[in-house]
Amino acid sequence: MAHGKLISFEGIDGAGKSTQLDHAARCLAARGLRTRVTREPGGTPLAEQLRALLLAEPMDAITETLLLFAARRDHVERVIRPALAAGEWVLCDRFFDATLAYQGAGRGVAEDWLRGLQAQIAGDLEPDLTLLFDVPEALAAARLRHSGAAADRFEREPETFFGRVRSMYLARARAAQTRVCVIDARAPAEQVTSQVEAALTRLTERSAAGRPVSGGPGEGR
Ligand code: TMP
Repeated sequence: MAHGKLISFEGIDGAGKSTQLDHAARCLAARGLRTRVTREPGGTPLAEQLRALLLAEPMDAITETLLLFAARRDHVERVIRPALAAGEWVLCDRFFDATLAYQGAGRGVAEDWLRGLQAQIAGDLEPDLTLLFDVPEALAAARLRHSGAAADRFEREPETFFGRVRSMYLARARAAQTRVCVIDARAPAEQVTSQVEAALTRLTERSAAGRPVSGGPGEGR
């Protein structure tokens, strides 16, 4: 059976990626692909409990990082790898790029340590495609304010924090241009949707042609 594909959805809080993720799942299912929608932190009963702590409890950056990796380990072992092995297309709301962006650039946690932990808990597992929903931090903050939902521990960070997170995401995109597709998420929703559909079409066509979908060895690590 063909191995499935892993697609991650990234962006600063307020970029609008979650709505697009649901649409992308419908789009792939309409093409006859078996899909699984999941998220990080979360995706298993244990990881969802860790998520609740991460979003609410005050903690330092190292504790936050270790809880995130514990959640990821459980998720990778119990959901992502089995789903990929069963040929499913896994759509994951955030993956390791978020760790480098939020904990690395946002909180100042050492990048080498983050990369080492990632290698230990997930090996060489990397998304086949990452959709990076890019918006300026001021626009994202305005969207969050207008949503009316209570802000979680991350969403309460100042715009300067999200400026650093966004810069890291864009640097990751430049370093891994084959894997990461930057979506201009300032655009009206329909235009964002068409950019997502175009990226998915490129991936499904490459996959059907049996060509590698991610970049060269180590690209974007
Ligand atoms: P979400 O609101 O997009 O579901 O993500 C929850 C929060 O978790 C979001 O504010 C970013 C944060 N997060 C990290 O800080 N590092 C990570 O590695 C992941 C996966 C999420």
